[in-house]
Amino acid sequence: MVNPVQRCQVTFIPSNKQVMVPRGTVLLKAANLIDEHINASCGGKGTCGKCRVIIEEGSFNTSETPFLSKKERAEGYVLACLTLIESDLKVRIPAESMMGKGQMLETKNVWRPQIEVGHWELKPRTCKQVIKLPPPSLSDNRSDFDRLVTSLKQAGIETCNLCTNAYILRKLGRIVREKDWEVTVTLMDIFGRQEIIDISAGKETGRHYGLAIDIGTTTIAVYLIDLIEGEIVTVASDYNAQMSCGEDIISRIVFQLRATAWKS
Ligand code: FES
Repeated sequence: MVNPVQRCQVTFIPSNKQVMVPRGTVLLKAANLIDEHINASCGGKGTCGKCRVIIEEGSFNTSETPFLSKKERAEGYVLACLTLIESDLKVRIPAESMMGKGQMLETKNVWRPQIEVGHWELKPRTCKQVIKLPPPSLSDNRSDFDRLVTSLKQAGIETCNLCTNAYILRKLGRIVREKDWEVTVTLMDIFGRQEIIDISAGKETGRHYGLAIDIGTTTIAVYLIDLIEGEIVTVASDYNAQMSCGEDIISRIVFQLRATAWKS
């Protein structure tokens, strides 16, 4: 009879997150399974020494490493990528090994990007158009969408390949009737083709915002941009969660290869 694989519960402190994994699982992999981010600049090769954790309870099997002193080893320090889980464990992640999540790395009040990139023309791919639709009557029984398209065309919008989505069509009937057939249509230019991406009742042109998302290897930044004034209103950023798989792309590829090896 085949023995069932023994499963172990790993509890990470201070988050108190828990995960059940088969005995023999690499500790770094267990942490990644539940998005417990531990610094792992080398992608789990054991060459950066950054994935230091302290095992407070339980048994484990770890490899020798020059990154930990005798004293640290006696205190329970191990490298998560070189440690195999042998029983239920309680693992403390020290501050230096933690990758903060949800951390605002930078905030600025409104500023103009000209300061940083020189002169540039404000030409957003989206625009808002206020139009007044003719209400339906016995002699004009077109659908609301046909009525909208005709009015956009009369306002000078290219409607040849105009398209929209089910979300807009579902709310169209209600929105056009809310403010006496006056609506604000938000259009997006997608390589020369106009798409209706939103519609709201009445005149709603006072605010028009867009997001610019910068996905970097280390951080991800999201900029809220006022598309009327051309100003960046604020920016929020956080570490790229892939950091726990290595600091650079090559380390992350290596990490993935090792993760596949850990699975088999
Ligand atoms: S030494 Fe463990 S991830 Fe680098």
